[in-house]
Amino acid sequence: MNTPDAAGRPAPTTKRVTVAEIARMRAAGERIAMLTCYDYPTARVLDEAGIPILLVGDSLGMVVLGYDTTVRVSMEEMLHHTRAVARGTRRALVVADMPFLSYGVSVEASLANAGRFLSDAGAGAVKVEGGERTARTIEALTRIGIPAMGHIGLTPQAVHQLGGYRVQGRTRQSARALLNDALAVQQAGAFAVVLELVPAQLAAAITERLTIPTIGIGAGAGCSGQVQVVTDLLGLTADRTPRHARVYADLRGEIRAAVERYQADVASGAFPAEAESWRMEDELLAEVLGRSELDRTPAEGIPLDRDL
Ligand code: KIV
Repeated sequence: MNTPDAAGRPAPTTKRVTVAEIARMRAAGERIAMLTCYDYPTARVLDEAGIPILLVGDSLGMVVLGYDTTVRVSMEEMLHHTRAVARGTRRALVVADMPFLSYGVSVEASLANAGRFLSDAGAGAVKVEGGERTARTIEALTRIGIPAMGHIGLTPQAVHQLGGYRVQGRTRQSARALLNDALAVQQAGAFAVVLELVPAQLAAAITERLTIPTIGIGAGAGCSGQVQVVTDLLGLTADRTPRHARVYADLRGEIRAAVERYQADVASGAFPAEAESWRMEDELLAEVLGRSELDRTPAEGIPLDRDL
């Protein structure tokens, strides 16, 4: 058994969750809870809590970096945050989102970029958006041993083409296209697929037809697992929280109240207290300030600047 260490972290000997473990969970009917994660301290908490998959989503751009879309997120930004999350985990499978244009331009570039997430940043898998249009990329990645997660339905990197963040697959034609996308991604070798903003019945039907797990976000309860943007879940989202998110905490309110208390304590002098400070020998201080016997006879003591 892997007993957590004194700090509550999974034991250093803890085995990483692998894509094989994710397949086992699906086969056993265990629902998979995945969360996005962008930094080291949050990764530590989510890992300690036992979340099996942490996605360094390119939602990073919107919820952490303040961009207006995910289209602006760069490889370097994704690598930087993936490294931090990987350092903060012992158990979770870390999946890195491949940013816009880091894949799909040429197979060679896709492989090179995906490889950096594993060999340089410490991720265990990558995620790519798109169904049939991305199947070739997924096939190439998995052929050389890079586990890939698909992402269909609303694919935010295509927001300019989709014309907004809307539920997908509501017409006969788009629902069929989504089913084909799911099958293409599975056929290409993806170990799981995210279904974003898809009607619940369609997501459940896709889940039934696939052998790989589906991870839903705004896709109803019939998926093999769920993913949420961690800042939505924790109540840290500055703007409107999406309808599909459930807010489990009010960290924004907690943080605000905490920093207001801190500011008041600084203003009143209540912070820092004795327990938050260090003392030195009063005599030594007096000596340094030139009030000791030694200071009065510079020849015998350490000369101070003013004595030179
Ligand atoms: O970037 C992201 O956060 C995502 C999830 C919404 C699945 O892709």
